[in-house]
Amino acid sequence: MSANPKPHDPVYAHAREVLPGGTFGNTGAELIIREGQGSHVWDEDGNEYIDYLIGSGPMFVGHNHPEVTAAAQAQLAHGTTFFANNRLGVELAQAIIDAMACAEKVRFVSTGSEADAFAMRLARAYTRRDKILKFEGGYHGFSDYGLMSLAPKKVGNTVEPIPDSAGIPANVKENMVIAPYNDAAAVESLLREHKGEIAAVFMEPFQRIIPPQPGFLEKVREIATANDTLLIFDEVVTGFRFAYGGAQEYYGVTPDVCTLGKVIGGGFPLAAIAGRDEVMAMFDKDRAGDRFLPQIGTLSGNPVASAAGLATLEVLKRPGTYEKIFAMGKTLMAGLSERLERHGIEAQVIGVPPLFDLVFTTGEIRNYRDTLRGDTAKMARLNALLKERGILKGDSKYYVSLTLSDADIKKTLDAWNDALAVMAKE
Ligand SMILES: Cc1ncc(COP(=O)(O)O)c(C=O)c1O
Repeated sequence: MSANPKPHDPVYAHAREVLPGGTFGNTGAELIIREGQGSHVWDEDGNEYIDYLIGSGPMFVGHNHPEVTAAAQAQLAHGTTFFANNRLGVELAQAIIDAMACAEKVRFVSTGSEADAFAMRLARAYTRRDKILKFEGGYHGFSDYGLMSLAPKKVGNTVEPIPDSAGIPANVKENMVIAPYNDAAAVESLLREHKGEIAAVFMEPFQRIIPPQPGFLEKVREIATANDTLLIFDEVVTGFRFAYGGAQEYYGVTPDVCTLGKVIGGGFPLAAIAGRDEVMAMFDKDRAGDRFLPQIGTLSGNPVASAAGLATLEVLKRPGTYEKIFAMGKTLMAGLSERLERHGIEAQVIGVPPLFDLVFTTGEIRNYRDTLRGDTAKMARLNALLKERGILKGDSKYYVSLTLSDADIKKTLDAWNDALAVMAKE
């Protein structure tokens, strides 16, 4: 592996001509992946990496998993999209209902952003209320509402709706209420202040890499119920990852509705809204009356994506899968903590074994504002040093995948040691 990847000519140069900023928007223009196999990916220069990015989450069972590939290929030969219902999509809906405690009915879309946008509209239709409470720092896709206070650069004394993008109409904030994560008292007081106006508390049960404090989700569940407000878990990341039954199984708190994406499409574009029958009935014109929520998508329930998703869930369902993921993640988290200590670096590892990272700061991390204490320059430096050592990850997440080998884990621990030793001297 070369220490300094070349600029991937000619794909890099071509991308700069045809894409704004030379990128799809997801990563820097310099990262161009050519191939993925199991727990490894290769870039256009032929550099090999152990992959902790895993396509930003979907490739939980590894790239080109033989069973997932075979299932997708089998469907390819029979047609790739029909718009109409298809057997595989119906079977995937059943698998989601069997897995997720909140799921009695399922509606498919193609991306997590779409799922979240429809789930917000669903809550508004069902409750006939306009406002959504979300948490500062919580990510719910790229709709106007989802992008309120995802990552506000300048935070004032109070937590308030701030758009995270140009182009969002000013009045969107009138219908968003923002709370600090892990603060049930704030949620309670906001629901009191906006009595009868809030359709849903919309949240990542595990926000980015911040775990819920003991009792927080239970308390939010209780407060939402007491206010006739829906509780919606965005499980686009956590679904089928923290447990087969998602974060709702892992933390033992059942929302009214959840959104799913990433893992359920097996590497193809597929996402879903799943929830209580009475709420999901708003998608059914025969039951919803004037609360009907029309919902159509060209590729919704796509049969190739459904085949890949079903095959992925089959792999995940096998005994020992989550034990293996958690054991590997624990080894990695403990190994990273140990190496930080060894090199006297002020940082802490946070998250859960399937999904974690470090934050370059000491002191408790309970919410978005606490993460702002983290030294982002150091984070970028470490990520770059790791990339040079064959470890690929996103800016602020290590996703553990099922196909990581003992050798991958050893190489990761060595790369951390090496990179942190360099940083300790800087
Ligand atoms: C919690 C959460 N919700 C929603 C989304 C949006 O999903 P997509 O990128 O499929 O639109 C993401 C994407 O990373 C996510 O992490």
